[in-house]
Amino acid sequence: MIVSKLLSLIHHFKTTIFNIKKMNNLSNKVAVVTGGNSGIGYAAAKELIAQGAQVVITGRNKQSVETAATELGATGIVADQSKIDQIDQLALAVKEKFGKVDVLFLNAGLAAFSPVETATEEHYDALMNLNVKGVYFTVQKFLPILNDGGSIIFNASVNAVLGMPDSSVYAASKAAVLSLNKVLARELATRKIRVNAISPGPVATPLYGKLGLEQEQVDGFGTVLGQRILLNRFGRPEEIANVVRFLASDDASFITGTEITVDGGLTVNAVIY
Ligand SMILES: NC(=O)c1ccc[n+]([C@@H]2O[C@H](COP(=O)([O-])OP(=O)(O)OC[C@H]3O[C@@H](n4cnc5c(N)ncnc54)[C@H](OP(=O)(O)O)[C@@H]3O)[C@@H](O)[C@H]2O)c1
Repeated sequence: MIVSKLLSLIHHFKTTIFNIKKMNNLSNKVAVVTGGNSGIGYAAAKELIAQGAQVVITGRNKQSVETAATELGATGIVADQSKIDQIDQLALAVKEKFGKVDVLFLNAGLAAFSPVETATEEHYDALMNLNVKGVYFTVQKFLPILNDGGSIIFNASVNAVLGMPDSSVYAASKAAVLSLNKVLARELATRKIRVNAISPGPVATPLYGKLGLEQEQVDGFGTVLGQRILLNRFGRPEEIANVVRFLASDDASFITGTEITVDGGLTVNAVIY
């Protein structure tokens, strides 16, 4: 009687430990989330921390980086990801604090819209400098401290393939990221580093207030998009964070060079009849 109770207790203990390990499948991992003080980056940092990872978040705004870092229990570092010297400083600071990194989520991004006729050089440079140049050099500067077998995750966008009017520079910047995704997956495979991209559809974040559009335009745009999304709603940042967690973990150990579209079915809803 006592022996069987003891065996049952041991079994229960083993199952609990197994479940805890499964729940915290990123423990002992260090993750860097660029643009982690808001929207998708914030949700991703929260999810990675919930899975046991130590997380560094970045952003330009000192106050919101500090607030978010405190709320999340993350390390906050102010860095403008479009400036090479600041990316250098960021990589150095992460190296000094953590030594090595396992997960790099290239999330910081700018979305701004303009018709081609009136798009300025500033508009072009702001988008390309952050969304392409900044992303590219963040990968490069982190490679020396990224562990072999690590995971790089790009935050792209369905805009790369939608042909949405006024989104030309933003769309091109995200198409460039999808291209980098494939090439870098090949280059980094020798180090068993997995490289993947997530292409979110419309996700409810503060991004829509930063597009440079009137609130009326944003609302109209939101209504049209909402109708085209098969699931009839915008995504939640947590729904992208779940995919980040998956790609960061060993659950995705045989996945590299791919793009996961998380858009509620927007991109398959092209034919109207
Ligand atoms: N929301 C969507 O519908 C959607 C759809 C597809 C793809 N995405 C992509 O998702 C990513 C995150 O967007 P979000 O929707 O979460 O918007 P968000 O809430 O506006 O977040 C953008 C983040 O990027 C950071 N950031 C902007 N410029 C930066 C710079 N120069 N250096 C460092 N950080 C910078 C912001 O921090 P600061 O405020 O401190 O600068 C903020 O943390 C972007 O790459 C976006 O293109 C979003």
